[in-house]
Amino acid sequence: MQIAFLMAKSRRAAALFLLVLLLPAGALDAAHPEAARGSGGAVASAAPAATEAGLEVLRAGGNAADAAVATALALAVVRPRAGNLGGGGFAVTRFASEVKTLDFRETAPAQATHDMYLDERGEPRPGASLIGPLAAGVPGSPAGLYELHKKLGRLPWAKVVAPAISLARDGFTVDRRLALGTKEYADLLGRFPETAAVWLPGGQPLEAGSTMRLPELAATLEAYTERGAPAITEGPIAAAVELASRRYGGVLRAEDLAAYRPVWREPVRFEAFGWQVASMPLPSSGGIILGQTCGMLERLEWSKFSRFGADRYHILVEVFRRAYADRVLLGDPRTSLASANQLLAREWLNFRADGIRLTKATPSDRVRKWSGDLVPESRETTHLSVMDRDGNAVSITTTLNGTFGCGLLVPGAGFLLNNEMDDFATAPGQPNLYGLIQGEANSVGPGKRMLSSMTPTIAWRGKEVIVIGSPGGSKIPTATTQVLLNLIVDGDELQAAVDRERIHHQWMPDVVFAEAHALSPETEKALARRGHELRPVASLGEVHSVRGEIGGEMLAAQDPRGPGTAKIVRPAVD
Ligand code: DON
Repeated sequence: MQIAFLMAKSRRAAALFLLVLLLPAGALDAAHPEAARGSGGAVASAAPAATEAGLEVLRAGGNAADAAVATALALAVVRPRAGNLGGGGFAVTRFASEVKTLDFRETAPAQATHDMYLDERGEPRPGASLIGPLAAGVPGSPAGLYELHKKLGRLPWAKVVAPAISLARDGFTVDRRLALGTKEYADLLGRFPETAAVWLPGGQPLEAGSTMRLPELAATLEAYTERGAPAITEGPIAAAVELASRRYGGVLRAEDLAAYRPVWREPVRFEAFGWQVASMPLPSSGGIILGQTCGMLERLEWSKFSRFGADRYHILVEVFRRAYADRVLLGDPRTSLASANQLLAREWLNFRADGIRLTKATPSDRVRKWSGDLVPESRETTHLSVMDRDGNAVSITTTLNGTFGCGLLVPGAGFLLNNEMDDFATAPGQPNLYGLIQGEANSVGPGKRMLSSMTPTIAWRGKEVIVIGSPGGSKIPTATTQVLLNLIVDGDELQAAVDRERIHHQWMPDVVFAEAHALSPETEKALARRGHELRPVASLGEVHSVRGEIGGEMLAAQDPRGPGTAKIVRPAVD
């Protein structure tokens, strides 16, 4: 069934977008957990075994970078729908008040072309940017995670990879969500015999509670331990990627993997509500959307409006609408038509905020895009948050894009390839998997990085530090923003901030998506009177967050919308 949806994407993008929003089932039904407390370091991630991997490394004296990489590698084993070696991601780090970001986003292969997803009539080829290796960008995770450890880690590399190796070699217990995932995505996984052999054993979805062993992935991780990133990006594993790609019409080649480099970039930085915030710059739109949102909200004195009243939600939606309208101009930093400096400039935020009327929604088609003449240039994803006992922090969001990526597992290497090429504007004016309409700045081109919405973020005020982020495609910036606002504007306790129901608006479609109980019946009516179209959704994002005071107590919160865990090392290790 999943394949049919993917194939019909271009014709039924809006319907699919809604389906994607609705997929995570029973989001808020789970009993709300309590945040974990302690002082020896904190890990929050989307899978209990991955959180444990991070804790194990912290207990062994590792720092936040060691623990974050160990958690991410464990997610590549136990959470194959999103955790990965065949995808990419972003990290925001803060070590002894030095903030950096690492971009290990996938790139388009050298043979990628502007119109590679269009047929001879210029029409989108259904599924081409989503299924099979033609949809895959050059994986960034192997070089990215290795680089993150090399630059900031403290423990030997082998200790950081070890938990993932044991999970892959000795086996892990299949949880309900993974079992369900293999059932829901059986069409996609069954399309490639190489993938089916591992993830649909005997042609059947996995059973919850069974033990899963991944010997090929364990061997890949062992090679990675011994030789670092080149073990995957060069030699037999890179050759296996090329072979699998060629077999199914992909243009991904071994040279693409060898040529891939992660990039350290300056974060998007701004001040909001008395906090310093650092988030991901281009090629992610996430930090810019977060910064624009906070900037406009401060100008509109948003915090003074009654917390759950219609005015607050109305303003939030209007602000999101404008930030996402500007997103159309964004792309790889080399081709982006606007920069963070331009879109976060005081004049532009004033102009945008001034256009918001309190009594009426602005129809999205009347929100003018940034025109470039106002401000001179001043020149299924998974998120994890980690803090060590010294207060160093790492926020990583990593993704294959769609659930299980393009569906193709590289035989012999044991990992799935992403379908990140769909994050490019693959066909003019057509929404992508997340319903986002994108611009020429984000067109396909060899070596380009496709625009992302991932928003790994760190905020601090004095000794207090918050580490935050989310999966959820286009919903990532709005989910991350709302939890951050709950914390820094309304002073929620961490778990309450994560639990609280959320809304989403992304300019197009011109609809306010809302989780159940996010809006009171009165607020819903008041918003409808102002011209907003409201649509219920099961859940928006999955925010795994930690916060703490340097030298003091730490809290870690899991999002009840997913099966993740959040834990603390207690007491502190010596
Ligand atoms: O980079 C992006 O914005 C998307 N590839 C993220 C996809 C995603 O979050 C899927 N997970 N829920």
